[in-house]
Amino acid sequence: MKRNIIVFGGAGFIGSNFIRKLVNKDFFFINVDALTYASSKKNLNDLKKFKNYKFIKLNIINSNSVKKILRLYKPVYVVNFAAETHVDRSIDNPIPFVKTNVFGVSSLINEIKKYWNNLNGSLKKKFKFIQISTDEVYGSIDKGEANENSKYLSSSPYSASKAAADEIIMSFFRTYNFPIIITRCTNNYGPFQFPEKLIPLMIVNAIQGKKLPVYGKGNQIRDWIHVDDHVEAIYEILKFGKKGEIYNIGGKSKLKNIDVVKKICLLLDKKKPRKGSSSYLSLIKYVKDRPAHDKRYSININKIKKEINWKPKISFNSGLENTVDWYLENEFWWKFILSNSYSGERLGKL
Ligand SMILES: NC(=O)c1ccc[n+]([C@@H]2O[C@H](COP(=O)([O-])OP(=O)(O)OC[C@H]3O[C@@H](n4cnc5c(N)ncnc54)[C@H](O)[C@@H]3O)[C@@H](O)[C@H]2O)c1
Repeated sequence: MKRNIIVFGGAGFIGSNFIRKLVNKDFFFINVDALTYASSKKNLNDLKKFKNYKFIKLNIINSNSVKKILRLYKPVYVVNFAAETHVDRSIDNPIPFVKTNVFGVSSLINEIKKYWNNLNGSLKKKFKFIQISTDEVYGSIDKGEANENSKYLSSSPYSASKAAADEIIMSFFRTYNFPIIITRCTNNYGPFQFPEKLIPLMIVNAIQGKKLPVYGKGNQIRDWIHVDDHVEAIYEILKFGKKGEIYNIGGKSKLKNIDVVKKICLLLDKKKPRKGSSSYLSLIKYVKDRPAHDKRYSININKIKKEINWKPKISFNSGLENTVDWYLENEFWWKFILSNSYSGERLGKL
């Protein structure tokens, strides 16, 4: 018999890749998502054919409906990807971030805890709630690496809202012994990422001949992970992760933003040369830096390597090339997303 797993936020970038990767495994997936601007049912078109997949449109704040879904589907695992996720938007207006990432997640976990309280036997023993958090909660790491015990030092309202959620969730473990696990991953890239995040923004702007806005001098350092590596880590954590623990997940690919943008330009020069002879590099435009912009993210992933036996497999160069190919081959997807769900104000922000 298939085990039920409820994925909140499964219509977004990482959640949809997670379901796609695991849909052939021994689970029945219930994908619950509010379908905000950042998501699209088009991310999930290929999943419709699977009998072990169901989509429900719902905001996590709606506790009555969350309660009904939990009672109906009796999941053994719940994974929460649902969040407001774009740092720039959190700087423009932090309130939706507090609503979903703090209040929404608190309300969600409270309902799930009530559901878990009423479980018995092996389902209760096996049950796990996984919260997908971020390494941004550690703030800028000027030297060395943050491990799971490092302190919170959020810079943006986005990261502060994620840190608040982590604290609430951990308190449910400490107070009620509610079986949670928190994962903190570095910057993801790959197919189906909404084109406001660095890598897809640069790819789609370049293809359209638009400027490539780089904050400051582009010297900020990020550790990049391909989304396939991230979702595999989450799956391994579902199986082997210890309740009450936090696991860092990283890509072991630290690069300056400007170097990432240059790599994208050089890949596009090869794959889709511009008319005339100029390189996509000429589209790079340095713009005023983001306030409180973290200089460097860097995490230690020894815990997940040692305890879960997971490490990233995809090199940044090959993952980036596949991602550029995906955006070249799926213009219909991002053009649809840009025309339907997004006003484009950030894409033009120079
Ligand atoms: N993208 C990254 O690089 C990265 C890195 C580390 C951690 N994370 C975390 O991973 C998770 C997924 O990120 P993503 O990049 O896929 O984001 P995304 O913005 O692509 O997807 C978020 C999804 O959550 C849904 N959602 C938002 N508010 C909701 C609500 N109130 N109720 C129900 N659904 C709601 C959206 O509709 C969307 O489908 C987030 O929690 C994020 O903080 C992301």
